[in-house]
Amino acid sequence: MQLIKLSATDSTNAYLKDLLFHNEIEDFTAVMAHTQLKGRGQMGTNWISDPGKNLTFSVLVKSLESPVSEQFLLNIYVSLAIYNTLTQLHVPDLKIKWPNDIMSGHSKICGILIENILSGQHIQASIVGIGLNANQLTFNNLPNVSSLKLLLGRTMDLDELLLNIVVNLKSLLAEKGKLDKEELFKRYETALFRKDKPSTFKNQNDEMFMGFIKGVSSAGKLKILMEDEIMKEFSLKEVQLLY
Ligand code: BTN
Repeated sequence: MQLIKLSATDSTNAYLKDLLFHNEIEDFTAVMAHTQLKGRGQMGTNWISDPGKNLTFSVLVKSLESPVSEQFLLNIYVSLAIYNTLTQLHVPDLKIKWPNDIMSGHSKICGILIENILSGQHIQASIVGIGLNANQLTFNNLPNVSSLKLLLGRTMDLDELLLNIVVNLKSLLAEKGKLDKEELFKRYETALFRKDKPSTFKNQNDEMFMGFIKGVSSAGKLKILMEDEIMKEFSLKEVQLLY
């Protein structure tokens, strides 16, 4: 595996994308940074991390070979690769919060930002960006955020974490042919945060409603059983889980 270590860059996602556009690079090439100056999060947010404390890296996936309509599959593979890595470390009460945050109890410990490079209706390559809170102990009063060191009481080796995540991702993708989609979705849904629990959501119009998370559709929408017993599907922009 090719690993590029940077002391500082704007965003490892942006760096890896630029590298891909200008060079012939191997599948699973990874870029990690001690410091990100403009770390990017989901939905145009910033990803802020104390320099050198956490794992901030991006890895190239060229071998997915799926149509755009199945792009959620990579969210599943990546979430499960991190979930499996953290399970091996005995992180308590692990869950995947749809679409792809990794939680321990009620605290977020990892965020994922996937950027796909398309060729027509086909995914040519994906830049998988992962921010895993490893050794940071304080989070400027951010609610519901934690780190592996806070949870496990020991300092984590960032290189080892990266390697384990990439190894787990490679092995899940290698299984791709054998693992049917139903089984893959089942594994993801089994680990889903607040599945089958009465939860409160907010829709696009800032209206609150109650429902039960039941799973995800093949297009990656969240399936919520509403109070009137009707199942509805929501995209990321259409719903926010409050509690
Ligand atoms: C989220 O909002 O939860 C997603 C956060 C993703 C952060 C990672 S850190 C490494 C990579 N480079 C970025 O600029 N973002 C991702």
